[in-house]
Amino acid sequence: MTEQQPAPENPEGDEPIKQRKNGLYPAVSDELAENMKSGWADTELRDLRPIAQAPDTARRRAGLSARFPGERLVIPAGNLKTRSNDTEYSFRASTEYVYLTGDQTQDGVLVLEPTNAPEGQSAHEATLYLLPRSDRENGEFWLDGMGELWVGRRHSLSEAEQLYGMPCKDVRELADALREATGPVRGVRGHDAGIEAALTDKVTAERDEELRVFISEQRLVKDAFEIAELQKAVDSTVRGFEDVVKVLDKAEATSERYIEGTFFLRARVEGNDIGYGSICAAGPHATTLHWVRNDGPVRSGELLLLDAGVETHTLYTADVTRTLPINGTYTDLQRKIYDAVYEAQEAGIAAVKPGAKYRDFHDAAQRVLAERLVEWGLVEGPVERVLELGLQRRWTLHGTGHMLGLDVHDCAVARTETYVDGVLEPGMVLTVEPGLYFQADDVSVPEEYRGIGVRIEDDILVTEDGNRNLSDGLPRTSADVEAWMANLKG
Ligand code: GLY
Ligand code: MN
Ligand code: MN
Repeated sequence: MTEQQPAPENPEGDEPIKQRKNGLYPAVSDELAENMKSGWADTELRDLRPIAQAPDTARRRAGLSARFPGERLVIPAGNLKTRSNDTEYSFRASTEYVYLTGDQTQDGVLVLEPTNAPEGQSAHEATLYLLPRSDRENGEFWLDGMGELWVGRRHSLSEAEQLYGMPCKDVRELADALREATGPVRGVRGHDAGIEAALTDKVTAERDEELRVFISEQRLVKDAFEIAELQKAVDSTVRGFEDVVKVLDKAEATSERYIEGTFFLRARVEGNDIGYGSICAAGPHATTLHWVRNDGPVRSGELLLLDAGVETHTLYTADVTRTLPINGTYTDLQRKIYDAVYEAQEAGIAAVKPGAKYRDFHDAAQRVLAERLVEWGLVEGPVERVLELGLQRRWTLHGTGHMLGLDVHDCAVARTETYVDGVLEPGMVLTVEPGLYFQADDVSVPEEYRGIGVRIEDDILVTEDGNRNLSDGLPRTSADVEAWMANLKG
């Protein structure tokens, strides 16, 4: 990559400009500085159409406004994070900010300012604070590390107003304005240290957490735009799984990394990114729940547990798992374990319907797995005793699912009573993902079980009369998986 050229001294006559990195300061002559100010076309975009989800984000902001009347609400997108020296991790805007604005710009901040509107009207005015286009007069656009010449064109504030349907202002003025402002305020923490510092004397952790919890609970039921985005994420993910099956021979010749890279290509070409670190777990790695090192061998005769999801350009992610026989055919024992997990998943999916308790699908899946474990003689029955004592959990390990949306584990700070102890409603999207995992060093099971891990994970929408499997583009039964693989491998 290109480095900004350092100069020993700040040449006289330069405008003082904000330097982001290491005090690097390019030496420029007055003539060049003057030359760079002009000769640029007007590229302002006019008559932009609002983003598709603008009515949805407005409705969400209205919900937030109604919950916190009379209070200033501050929701930052977050800042770049240093990876090493002068390189940064790729930026991903905070879920709260994206949900309420549709924007994904780093350093952006949404502020809901309380107004004295008559009853029944919005009690807040929303303003989006963004970094405007780079100034060409003072050289910022080409001398500053965040100048548009280095990082690409940004929207002007006027363009952003058209896209996001809110007044937009220069974010560089926000911290001072927040410091001077009076009245009650809450902010979403953990994304923007500068904004938090400006609020520090005015907020409490408890009140800020109430804001974060409310936004998390707002997201429990998805609207039509969100459901369509989740379907897109899943559809790309299906194609990513197909890509992987087609290159399993190359993975066998290299490592799990070939699978990770193959899926990532699909995610970057069709979406924004992967929604979480892909778990490309071959052989005994399948028993490590979050195996993301992906540096192991891929061997014929073993299983590949692939847990991966594409994140769309609007940042909704899929979360899908299939456990595949690397050579295309399950062994008898692999099939027995796979079919048990499939049966548990079927029972789990059948329990997903409006009015059902959130916990029902977990209980239904766990019961099937406990039954099989007793039947196979791995744990002493009866099944009721196993379930009561949770003995099956030595091999089932994790919960059977979670909400899915902008975050892979969506709505993570919703209160227990609205989520885990709550009731399913149409529009909720959740994963159903039972598994059985026999660790390689688990001497409590017969040797042939050791090192086998199976999970099947699908993304399920709660509908008015039951559910819809968004990820049914991938096969689930052992026979269908084998036929699908044979077809793809040609
Ligand atoms: N990939 C993480 C999960 O399935 O929850
Ligand atoms: Mn999951
Ligand atoms: Mn998963």
